[in-house]
Amino acid sequence: MEQYVIKGGSPLYGEVEIGGAKNSALAILAASVMTDETVTIENLPNVRDINVLLQAIEEIGAKVERVDAHKVMISGSSIQDVTVDNEYIRKIRASYYLIGALLGKYKKAQVALPGGCEIGSRPIDLHIKGFRAMGADVDIAHGLVCAEATGLKGTHIYLDKVSVGATMNIMMAAAMAEGKTVIENAAKEPHVVDLANFLNSMGASIRGAGTDVIRIVGTDKLHGTEYSIIPDQIEAGTFMFAAAAAGGNVLVKNVIPKHLEATTAKLLEVGCTIEEFDDAVRVISSGKLTHTQVTTLPYPGFPTDMQPQMAVVLAIAEGTSTITESIFENRFRYVDELTRMGASIKVESNIAIITGVEKYTGARVNAPDLRAGAALVIAGLCAEGVTIIDDIHYVERGYEDFEGKLRGIGAQMEKVCSDKELQKFILKVS
Ligand code: UD1
Repeated sequence: MEQYVIKGGSPLYGEVEIGGAKNSALAILAASVMTDETVTIENLPNVRDINVLLQAIEEIGAKVERVDAHKVMISGSSIQDVTVDNEYIRKIRASYYLIGALLGKYKKAQVALPGGCEIGSRPIDLHIKGFRAMGADVDIAHGLVCAEATGLKGTHIYLDKVSVGATMNIMMAAAMAEGKTVIENAAKEPHVVDLANFLNSMGASIRGAGTDVIRIVGTDKLHGTEYSIIPDQIEAGTFMFAAAAAGGNVLVKNVIPKHLEATTAKLLEVGCTIEEFDDAVRVISSGKLTHTQVTTLPYPGFPTDMQPQMAVVLAIAEGTSTITESIFENRFRYVDELTRMGASIKVESNIAIITGVEKYTGARVNAPDLRAGAALVIAGLCAEGVTIIDDIHYVERGYEDFEGKLRGIGAQMEKVCSDKELQKFILKVS
């Protein structure tokens, strides 16, 4: 049973290096099997969801060579099976990208219905609508999504809701369909652009990624490539919010500042100073913060994956703030845990009304999901006393060496595996 244990109250100073984007990497790894040639992926984050997907890719017969923690070579030439199912893949959301990838290449895929974080009902009807519009038969049976087509045909697809997953999944299948596909009301997230760039480097023809209309001309064959994943905007934003809440001066390195504009704008509003460089941002915070209003929206709006971290900052900011969650209906499950640490938050429907308190006090809390778990860590960093966080396997799905990187900028934090280690840490810091 692993836990994070944190002694709060130290401001954060120094530099932190951001890794590759988990949500880009998941789609790109799935798309890597769409060629029989070798694909080399660099700047891969070494996190649990990535390792689960790589294992699933290996299980269907692809060759996966982990060159080092952040580099992998994949060859899809030896794939014999298009059925993807194991107890781990059922728990990750991005398993659905293998439907688009395998359907595009083999015109057939059977993939376990995706799991992921419990942040609301997460249908995949738009993905299925897209595959059906291209001529595939899609059924759900025995917990698997079964898709098959005699020939995939390009078509016009309008997404009723902006969906990152549906945009990327349809893009993959369309890259190997016959003729032209147009996706309208497409998601514009940086990882949509990253996947399009990756597929284009394999010989696909995708134009317009990053706008709401994406045009894809299908091809029969894709070739090998070498590709480096973009930096993770959510990991970067998490460290920026950590610096804001705990106070201090932190240089967040290896980022694309443009991808962080919504986060930067909110940090300026609450009273931080931000300096932007070509591939880094510096956050300077006195720890004295002020209230603001936030609404989560598809990119370039404020990301839903940063919402819990923002709430942790606002809960110790002077005045009353509101957060409106417009993407997922169940993304305030961390509020009860934060209340145990002293926060004053009332949730009405999809709005959290936050009355700033002077400080958090350390408590034993549970990480309810990936981003909320990271947010509780931030609360622990600025709490009075010791915070113990359970269920950190959620956090490890998306953050590589979170405790090590935070220690590198001055946090007093450890991952412990036993009560003995926990007591040793408490003795050390008290
Ligand atoms: C991805 C990210 C997740 C992020 C989310 C929004 C991955 C693995 N996960 O999730 O971290 O929080 O984007 O930025 O990349 N919807 C439907 N039908 C569908 C698909 C989606 O109704 O077929 C709805 C969802 O319920 C949600 C909204 O559309 O309300 C957006 O979801 P979507 O962008 O698809 O999120 P994911 O791709 O699941």
